[in-house]
Amino acid sequence: MIPLFDYQRQWRERQSEIMDTIQRVLNSGQLILGAEGRAFEGAMANLIGMDHAVGVNSGTDALVLALRVLGVKPGDGVITVPNTAVPTAAAIRLCGARPVFVDVEPDTLLMDVEQLKKLNTQGCKAIIPVHLHGLMVDMDPLLAFARARGLAVIEDCAQALGSFYKGRPAGSFGAISCFSFYPTKNLGAYGDGGLCTTRDAGLAKALRQQRMYGFDETPIAQVDGLNSRLDELQAGILNLKLKYFDADMQKRQSLAQRYLEKLDGRRLQLPTRPAGRTHSWHIFAVRSPFRQELKEKLAARDIITGVHYATPLHRMPAYQDLGYEAGDLPVAEKAAAELLSLPLFPEFTHEEQDKVIDTLHEALPR
Ligand SMILES: Cc1ncc(COP(=O)(O)O)c(C=O)c1O
Repeated sequence: MIPLFDYQRQWRERQSEIMDTIQRVLNSGQLILGAEGRAFEGAMANLIGMDHAVGVNSGTDALVLALRVLGVKPGDGVITVPNTAVPTAAAIRLCGARPVFVDVEPDTLLMDVEQLKKLNTQGCKAIIPVHLHGLMVDMDPLLAFARARGLAVIEDCAQALGSFYKGRPAGSFGAISCFSFYPTKNLGAYGDGGLCTTRDAGLAKALRQQRMYGFDETPIAQVDGLNSRLDELQAGILNLKLKYFDADMQKRQSLAQRYLEKLDGRRLQLPTRPAGRTHSWHIFAVRSPFRQELKEKLAARDIITGVHYATPLHRMPAYQDLGYEAGDLPVAEKAAAELLSLPLFPEFTHEEQDKVIDTLHEALPR
């Protein structure tokens, strides 16, 4: 079987180091907010080129905490795209705020700043650009728009660790930027994990308070807070995996390059790569009007593919009260019917990849 993702291959390769890490953490006497977490936060701040990084329990929590400390209150609008993972909108709703969806560009499938300009932003406090699949949103016009309208920018970098825009890394543009270490991510934990980055010491302090019941140094709640901490075991595993991050990213790049060279771009729409941006290839997604047929034919040959994402958020039952209808966000809706994610992960072999490519070509209508 060719999976879409398989952490067990990596686990088998690095088992002894991972077990050593687990043992070290368990022997340390500290399971929550200790040396591993601090080391990881330091390494991440360094990697993204930001002054502060705050580890939290998940990418969803990273977004919730970011919205809370940036002052998003119940009833406020938060602009984002409909073609993202559910947690982007779930985080907005958890703050009692209202997702305001804007359509995406037809080629990149990323937030369309021209569409943004047509939006009524009254009552909106923040904007969450999502670097979908690992390609960054066109940040210069987006930041200019946000500045002009007084909107706080929160980057959703869950899929974009390792991506760059004009030489600057994902996570270095927003007032706060949010990362996920869900196991399938470019840097994946062996459980849940997330992180916020910021340049602002005040925001970093507020994020630290939020993740720990609203405490400062003493166990006195200064503000309303919650419990969202990156535990020491996950931080230890992430510290270890950071050592392999560059090598893993190179493997992703070269596998993506092979797909781009070998797949028939006349019969399949391949991912676009605008000048000045590098792709982190968290997901390699092609587009075809025959998506379902292709998916089934690949599955018949034991090749597992994915769809990121099949239903735009405004068409999901949970968000019907927002009042959107089919056809309101046509670019995202069309893409949702056509996208197909192909297997791509660092341990994926060329032999497997060639089988995916050949099977896909055979399955495509002539
Ligand atoms: C775009 C996006 N945002 C947010 C998240 C939420 O991250 P997590 O699953 O760690 O809560 C994810 C990952 O699932 C994601 O892909």
